[in-house]
Amino acid sequence: MINKYIFGKPFESEAVVDFPSDAKVFTDNKAIPGASVCVSNDFKMTIELDELDMIFGLGESLGGFNKRGKVFRSWCTDDPVHSEEKEALYGAHPYFIIYSPTKKTSSLYFIDYPGLVTLDMAFTFYDKVVVTVPNDNLNVYYIKEDSLLDTAKTFRAIIGKSFVEPFWAMGYCQSRWGYKSDEDIDAIIANHKKYSLPLDAIFMDIDYMESFRNFTVNKANFPDFKATVSKLKALGVHLVPIIDAGTKDCEEDEIDREGISNGYYCKTADGKVLRAAVWPGFAHFPDFLQERVRKWFGEKFKLLQQEGIDAFWIDMNEPVMFYSEEGIKAASKKLKEYAQLVLDDKLASGQIVAWQMKDAVGCLQNSMSDYESFFHEVPKTVAGALAQKEPCFKTQSADDVLVRHSDIHNLYAFNMAKAVSQANKGIFLLSRASYIGSHRYTSIWMGDNFSWWSHIELALHMLPSLNMAGFIHTGCDLGGFGCNTSRELLLRFLSLGIFTPLMRNHAACGTRAQECYNFEKVEDFRALLSLRYRLIPFLYNEVMKASLEGELMFTPLAFEYGEDEIALHCEDQLLLGKTVMIAPVYTANAIGRNVYLPQNMLELRCSSAQGCLSGKPQTRLLEKGAHFIKCAPNEVVFFVKEGCAIPVVDAALNTKELDYSTITYWGSENPVTPYELKYKGE
Ligand code: GLC
Repeated sequence: MINKYIFGKPFESEAVVDFPSDAKVFTDNKAIPGASVCVSNDFKMTIELDELDMIFGLGESLGGFNKRGKVFRSWCTDDPVHSEEKEALYGAHPYFIIYSPTKKTSSLYFIDYPGLVTLDMAFTFYDKVVVTVPNDNLNVYYIKEDSLLDTAKTFRAIIGKSFVEPFWAMGYCQSRWGYKSDEDIDAIIANHKKYSLPLDAIFMDIDYMESFRNFTVNKANFPDFKATVSKLKALGVHLVPIIDAGTKDCEEDEIDREGISNGYYCKTADGKVLRAAVWPGFAHFPDFLQERVRKWFGEKFKLLQQEGIDAFWIDMNEPVMFYSEEGIKAASKKLKEYAQLVLDDKLASGQIVAWQMKDAVGCLQNSMSDYESFFHEVPKTVAGALAQKEPCFKTQSADDVLVRHSDIHNLYAFNMAKAVSQANKGIFLLSRASYIGSHRYTSIWMGDNFSWWSHIELALHMLPSLNMAGFIHTGCDLGGFGCNTSRELLLRFLSLGIFTPLMRNHAACGTRAQECYNFEKVEDFRALLSLRYRLIPFLYNEVMKASLEGELMFTPLAFEYGEDEIALHCEDQLLLGKTVMIAPVYTANAIGRNVYLPQNMLELRCSSAQGCLSGKPQTRLLEKGAHFIKCAPNEVVFFVKEGCAIPVVDAALNTKELDYSTITYWGSENPVTPYELKYKGE
């Protein structure tokens, strides 16, 4: 069952694209099943929970598989410190499924509103979900099917098919904020060759550019960029340059000037082009909500494609604003006032002023007042009641109206990805921020995590909730982006990364060198990376099934073994397709971990000696129940259901070299249902 509830005149977000013609649509009807709704300038929906009800979903978010007991905000947020109490990450995916293990019912609610949505998942009241929206123009979708899986799949069906990455994107990707020259790239290639480490892509962070200007390449560091790109391509290695949302405010930059003279940028209330700082200093922000701007910006990617580039990484598209001119002025005024108080000795407490001074600067970044200060020009037919009643400046087209950015904040990155994807078919595309529907245009990664043990588990938790929102080709920064990783931590991150469609090692500038070859016993890293390549035919098939057929690649055990109380509440293992279960180690100095098998399964133990590089893993049948599974950092242990087998090929150093004629099967010798390898990469 799919119902749509329209309140007021919502903004047309384009999140839902395949709404069935026979599904029910209600207008200003508050009778959403299971919920009580209150609408008066704002929107509040309350859902009573039973003691054992569980909540799944919310896409890119903190918390476990079961989100009960936490507050979440749907608001694309650039906050690199993903600590437990945080309420928002880069993606805004305001959907959730309430599952009742007693009644066996699954109800999905999707609050399609492009501004701020607060989702109190039984935090304030232990038995209530309370969703609030500071506006009364929105759509709510309600889906109810017989099982958790079917409910999630119906949601996938209405939001459209996922963007499909090229096959090589299944290969190992090396990245670091700081690669800036041919020499840096050559060193990565040489080291991968020296240690026989597979490689398919090198990501080029902002330092490849000229003064952080989009679509430029630093000539001194890359004297013949085209030759660099083609040299790498011949080796099967793709370069993936980053492009940020903000374009540097720069007299000499033709693209920036083009943007200004054509009115392509967002403007503030006085009709002036918005200026706010990102990496290049003050920047301008393309108004991606205008079709002509999307076309213009999307076409610019061809400048790099002419150099041979076929892959892009789009970033800072929440959008990030380190500070605005107004913000800086207000903060420096406040600082002066505080300083005067201190100098005049008029303080009750020194500590408080220190905090206030810190706050005056700290709140500059991505501030709500900046997001409220500028506007988008949007067709009347799309804007609904979010159109400004009294426009502060004239739109360029009479068919357009002004919409305040803060009201549609979560659609900025969505429309940036749409711009790039629609103008450049067949490319690789990875975005940081997203909304529901972005999965039709781009893949996403999980943003700036840390080299923390808990962030392995966090990535595990996000995989199924992202899948339910259509994001299949995803993964986290392996090794951790912020702070220094250790050899053991990187190995354990990689052991999860072997199974995630995006397998990218990425780190922030200033952190310890994190490329595999910088650690002792590189052969252990070679073993893990090689295992990934052996598994690619299986993984790619699962990715394609999930992307094209609306399956989920990763599901919590609860989705399949809901009758089993332990499986239902298992928070640190995942099913991968219908055959495999993974249970990565995510604690330091561990010799293994406890694993719960919801049915008899084969344990596949891969090491350099057996399975990773060649041959078969050590395999044994384990009975349903709890087991302590030993697993050293240089081993990978995973599970195949009894009666099943998965395809593997010979190890390779690049996806181009993968040879499907070498397929053998791991798992049961005589599988009950042979594995169907429907999608083969090339
Ligand atoms: C952002 C991105 C990160 C990148 C950095 C510099 O923090 O999330 O991946 O390395 O910007 O461009």
